[in-house]
Amino acid sequence: MTSSSRTQVGIVGAGPAGLLLSYLLSLRGIDSIVVENRSRAYCEARQRAGLLEAGTVELLRAIGLAARMDAEGLEHGGIYLQFAGERHHLDFRDLTGGRWVTIYAQTEIVKDLIRARLAAGAHIEFEVSGTEVSDLDTDRPVLRFTDAAGTRHEVSCDAIAGCDGFHGVCRDSMPPGLIQVAERGYPYSWLGILATVPPSTDELIYCRHEDGFALHTMRTPQVSRLYLQVSADEDIAGWPDDRIWAVLRHRLEVPGWELKDGPITEKAVSPMRSFVAFPMRYRRLFLAGDAAHIVPPTGAKGLNLAIADVTVLAAALARLLRDKDPEPADAYSDTCLSRVWRATHFSWWMTSMLHVDPNRDPFGAELQLSQLRYVVSSRAAATTLAENYTGYFPLHWP
Ligand code: PHB
Repeated sequence: MTSSSRTQVGIVGAGPAGLLLSYLLSLRGIDSIVVENRSRAYCEARQRAGLLEAGTVELLRAIGLAARMDAEGLEHGGIYLQFAGERHHLDFRDLTGGRWVTIYAQTEIVKDLIRARLAAGAHIEFEVSGTEVSDLDTDRPVLRFTDAAGTRHEVSCDAIAGCDGFHGVCRDSMPPGLIQVAERGYPYSWLGILATVPPSTDELIYCRHEDGFALHTMRTPQVSRLYLQVSADEDIAGWPDDRIWAVLRHRLEVPGWELKDGPITEKAVSPMRSFVAFPMRYRRLFLAGDAAHIVPPTGAKGLNLAIADVTVLAAALARLLRDKDPEPADAYSDTCLSRVWRATHFSWWMTSMLHVDPNRDPFGAELQLSQLRYVVSSRAAATTLAENYTGYFPLHWP
């Protein structure tokens, strides 16, 4: 037996993109359903990045979703760039006329969104299977899924949003030949840890060391997060905690500074890639977040891009469905892609400047060092980094 129903927007994926889209649509009086393969507990525990651009912070404030972020988030007005054994500070507030970033983990945003949506009576189905989207040539696309209890559902929608990540079904449901892909792989991965120890730094340290990149970031005043460049196919089994701390200490070393260590509660290796699929829309199927684009984590753009996509999409869907004005929906892909490509360039640039290429030659290494020296000695170069890091282009809502 299939249960048939109707909603305005079918949303595939309960990550930050799908959940925020459903929240923004509800502010405009638009109904949606969110379907998600994973359990609520999995979505709320999944460790991802944790750095919000100023515009992302301002959006969350403007829509009434900032209470916990404002209480617990850590505002940072700059970063440290370390290379050739020296640590330099970049002051974003000074360089950008007051812009900043806020450390607040993606998983906390997901928790805040799920709680807010469920309290408002939203329809979120966790642990679904067999998700499909069809009838994409019509103005009534259909979303099908099997719920956790085994009942098959068929939901007739006015539009569908694919917020289902890089491996999701929506991108592959687009007509064959429509989507183009531009991508770049990197010959290294990041080994990331969460550790129960107060951060040894007030602001993030991005470090280029001859042995490879290292990053010291944080989650709370009690919890540190750190990353190490490792080889592309690195086996985590070869990294007992002592080795991780020893390598971090070696790469991040500067005279007079000490890295505090503590119990590691989580460790994982993640590959790095740049990937953009375009256009991000076919008729009434719209892709958002990782379903359409992936950036390497250097610069922390992934979550901010996903939030920017759905902010544009919610406004476009409101105009399409409430005012029968197709123009913003028609412009959705181009509007998002200009931001996506800026962030793709920035993430690629930060990544290439700070990592050690296993096939490096002296020419490449000297170019990296020259670029780093330029960033810390020229106000124009530092401003370029600061403006991109804190968020370019600015986000608008509504
Ligand atoms: C993080 O806090 O997880 C983080 C911060 C900055 C990055 C990447 C990851 O560039």
